[in-house]
Amino acid sequence: MKIAIPKEQRPDEARVAASPETVKKLVALGFEVAVETGAGKGASIPDEAYEKAGATIAADATVSFGSADVIAKVRRPLPSETKGLKSGALLVCIADPFRAGDELAPLAASGATVFAMDLIPRITRAQSMDVLSSQSNLAGYKAVLDAAAVYGSAFPMMMTAAGTVPPAKALVMGAGVAGLQAIATAKRLGAIVSATDVRPAAKEQVESLGGKFVAVEDEEFKQAETSGGYAKEMSAEYQKKQAALIAETIKKMDIVITTALIPGRPAPKLISREMVESMKPGSVIVDLAVENGGNCELSEAGKVVDHKGVKVVGHLNVPSRLAADASALYARNIYNFIELLVDKESKQLAVNWEDKIVADTCIIRDGKVVHPSLAPKDEPRKEPAAPPAAPSEGAAEPSDNSSDGQGG
Ligand code: NAI
Repeated sequence: MKIAIPKEQRPDEARVAASPETVKKLVALGFEVAVETGAGKGASIPDEAYEKAGATIAADATVSFGSADVIAKVRRPLPSETKGLKSGALLVCIADPFRAGDELAPLAASGATVFAMDLIPRITRAQSMDVLSSQSNLAGYKAVLDAAAVYGSAFPMMMTAAGTVPPAKALVMGAGVAGLQAIATAKRLGAIVSATDVRPAAKEQVESLGGKFVAVEDEEFKQAETSGGYAKEMSAEYQKKQAALIAETIKKMDIVITTALIPGRPAPKLISREMVESMKPGSVIVDLAVENGGNCELSEAGKVVDHKGVKVVGHLNVPSRLAADASALYARNIYNFIELLVDKESKQLAVNWEDKIVADTCIIRDGKVVHPSLAPKDEPRKEPAAPPAAPSEGAAEPSDNSSDGQGG
């Protein structure tokens, strides 16, 4: 079995799909590993470290792509990259299939079989492969550091001979994986932290991290969590009540980190222009949802907007801004998934197409787009699998996930 680890080609991508640790494990699993030269550079992993772990270094991607049975990538290949794919090869990457548009057809035409790591079901058995969690956690942490970097004041209270510096007040909007890490990070830096969400389960999680929970807790709120553990899109009436509460809260805040997402829908707009204008000059908003349309009306993808003294940060691909750790965790997610595709006795690829993890993630097989959520427009669309409610333990494999998944 041959596996290739190409250098990522997208301009904002510094991560890599294998680490020296996972190369060793792949070799032990029976793979010949080829890493494209410079693939680990953005994550501070030199070619020599991969060589020492048992990989060979390929001069360019076409060499390794051409003969590999498995290709592990971070991002979906660009159309220019798919030319080198061997028909029948297994490609594993964050495929972002619902936003892939025209890039899916050339991928399918290559004849490769494609697994989307971002569709890993959130079942207990698959937790070690859950890239959305591993990467969102780092993004939540980095968002707070990005806020601190452009904030002109300190986060913690400081009592000095020259007077007292008050602590920063931070609001985290959306208390999922990224939001909970943002709360913990802002607390560690010394801020006074509040957080909001529409899922009742989030309240206890926010409070357990020392945050104050701020939300419209009406009847609709009590029903807002889907059976899959995700948020529903809220009614216009709820959104109005929520906006009034946020408007009151936000004007007292120095730092706002937004992470709110609804699977298959654009990110909810939670911060209006008026709300931004009600904040003190010098305040900072970091919009982690910017690639999904943004939670703030004024955020711009890839930019730091200064609106009347309030900075609205819209960095793209935040996990890649922590490329070393993001790669280390992603590489383990990828290894755990690939392990599932291999028969350890015979050291051969042996894909069980009936396995829920395989079936939920396989988007292209033998040249055809096969995932039910990606059916052409004239065919009925089925929503993909959604996660269970529990983030860490005992989540059963849902028997029917057809209603609450990440469509697009
Ligand atoms: P996400 O990335 O889809 O959304 C982020 C957060 O935004 C969520 O907490 C959501 O409730 C919130 N949100 C949506 N609309 C909002 C609005 N209008 N106002 C305020 N907040 C809003 O969510 P993520 O981080 O992927 O987590 C979703 C769920 O999955 C959570 O319950 C989490 O605990 C669970 N989970 C389960 C795992 C497992 O079982 N293996 C692994 C990771 C997460």
